Amino acid sequence: MLLSSRSFAEYVAMFSLSQADLEGFVLDCAGGASSFTAELGAAGGRGLAVDPLYAQAASLAERIAEDSVHLGAMRLDAQESFTWDWYGSPEAFLDVRAAAAQRFLNDVQERPGRYIAGSLPTLPLRDNSVDLVLSSHLLFTWADPFDQAWHKAALLEMARVARREVRVYPLVRRGPGDPVAFLNPLLNALNASNDPSASNDPSASNDLNGPSAVNDLNGPSHNDLNGPSRHNVLRAELRPVQYEFQRGATEMLVVQSSSSPS
Ligand SMILES: C[S@@+](CC[C@H](N)C(=O)[O-])C[C@H]1O[C@@H](n2cnc3c(N)ncnc32)[C@H](O)[C@@H]1O
Repeated sequence: MLLSSRSFAEYVAMFSLSQADLEGFVLDCAGGASSFTAELGAAGGRGLAVDPLYAQAASLAERIAEDSVHLGAMRLDAQESFTWDWYGSPEAFLDVRAAAAQRFLNDVQERPGRYIAGSLPTLPLRDNSVDLVLSSHLLFTWADPFDQAWHKAALLEMARVARREVRVYPLVRRGPGDPVAFLNPLLNALNASNDPSASNDPSASNDLNGPSAVNDLNGPSHNDLNGPSRHNVLRAELRPVQYEFQRGATEMLVVQSSSSPS
């Protein structure tokens, strides 16, 4: 899997982020080498990123250099699969990614606590510990090897951590952007899993909620404390976005957490 480095501007477009969205605490999962968390922090916002690769922080720069070579070759070889309107040109695209990767590497040095090693479908974060979870180019992009059951578990886990909602982009496979056959069945399964008998009692997890310092967000996941993740989805739906790179990839998945206002 390539370690890619999308910028804050790409995230704003891919996830239709508003000023209000950016005022909450935002988790980037999987963060990879994206500069979203770095740029959010530099602008006075609050956020952190989770990715299994952060366990090998010392080798991140080397890995980014290797993967950017592959990325450039892949995109430039397959230009007809992509629309360059948002970036202007393949060269501008590569410039955006290189600048984002550098910004990410600087921030990892300066604020290592914002980058937490972890893997879906089990995040090392407490229930309802962030406002919004953004997930770019992991789910659906890698519909193989990750199957429908993995996607459902990953989405429920992100919804567990999110007070408000989870947004996922894109909803197509990597490369030419072929559709993912299990997208609609997954959506139906998520909406069907909205179990009104599941515990939404905030007092049940008061000791896990709230404080915005990063250290207070970490700790045993709900799974570790209370067994299998409860159903924590209010509603799952597709929404259009004003961003397109893989042709036809113009929708995000929004999963509202059961603790979000309906
Ligand atoms: C294509 S990159 C996307 C990075 C970033 N979100 C972006 O858009 O530039 C996919 C990332 O998913 C991470 N990853 C792979 N398996 C994962 C898992 N089970 N849970 C969380 N992240 C995972 C990889 O390490 C990689 O950094």
